[in-house]
Amino acid sequence: MLDSFPQAFSAVVQGASRGIGLALVAALLENDRVDQVIACARQPSSCEALAALAERHGARLHTQALDITIPDQVAALAQMLQSAGIRPHLVINVSGLLHQGADVMPEKRLEDIDFDAMQQVFAVNTLGPAMLCRHLLPLMAGEGKAAFLALSARVGSISDNRLGGWYAYRSSKAALNQVLKTASIEARRRYKNVLVAALHPGTTDTDLSRPFQANVPPDKLFTTAFVARRLLAVIDRLELEDSGGFFAWDGAKIPY
Ligand SMILES: NC(=O)c1ccc[n+]([C@@H]2O[C@H](COP(=O)([O-])OP(=O)(O)OC[C@H]3O[C@@H](n4cnc5c(N)ncnc54)[C@H](OP(=O)(O)O)[C@@H]3O)[C@@H](O)[C@H]2O)c1
Repeated sequence: MLDSFPQAFSAVVQGASRGIGLALVAALLENDRVDQVIACARQPSSCEALAALAERHGARLHTQALDITIPDQVAALAQMLQSAGIRPHLVINVSGLLHQGADVMPEKRLEDIDFDAMQQVFAVNTLGPAMLCRHLLPLMAGEGKAAFLALSARVGSISDNRLGGWYAYRSSKAALNQVLKTASIEARRRYKNVLVAALHPGTTDTDLSRPFQANVPPDKLFTTAFVARRLLAVIDRLELEDSGGFFAWDGAKIPY
């Protein structure tokens, strides 16, 4: 897998502390073509799972503290990569916010819309990834296949919205898709070998989906390891002409 990428490439995974991000880091480290994984998390030093991976994979795993909602920290990641001479061929923004204690809960109706909660969801799901695009696209490897991906969600598809609800999450992911589509157009001109795309992982058994799993049939609730493998397989198959698209875990194209 990942044979479409050059030998010995570096990958950045943003949102690596748990859930799908952690599984992506583990899957990348198992891949012989991957020379180094830069795993970004808010508090990497207190993440036991990342420590266990570091013990197993040594210097191939580099961790970086990054809160995606703090622009200076995104700039600091870019500076670190630049001074270490790392030009990644693969960047995946995984972090996302759907709910958070009593502060952020997906809205069922208009009265539930809360300015602060919506602002927080947009900061994590849209503004942060946009800043990552801004700082990392120019640093990506200029030769060979290179890909900048962000995990979006099918519920961010405007044409697929039949159920309503979840105003903040849906609209933040729709806006993320637009950021990625726009960046893909600029990349075609400025970073010609870099494809930019949005990915939908499918309903995955993580903290994010846990409160909403009751009506999900067991065969439709994926493990993080399965999703990581499937997403890497999709990324492996994506080509430059797919840039700007929105793809599900099985490779199917999702309309915006
Ligand atoms: N699970 C699903 O069913 C599903 C379905 C569709 C789309 N998705 C998308 O897939 C992605 C991964 O979801 P998941 O299920 O793996 O979620 P998760 O288990 O809840 O993990 C969320 C990740 O985002 C990180 N994060 C949150 N706020 C952050 C911030 N300000 N700065 C940096 N990192 C931050 C968390 O780090 P901390 O540990 O520091 O909090 C954690 O690593 C998300 O974008 C989500 O929207 C998931």
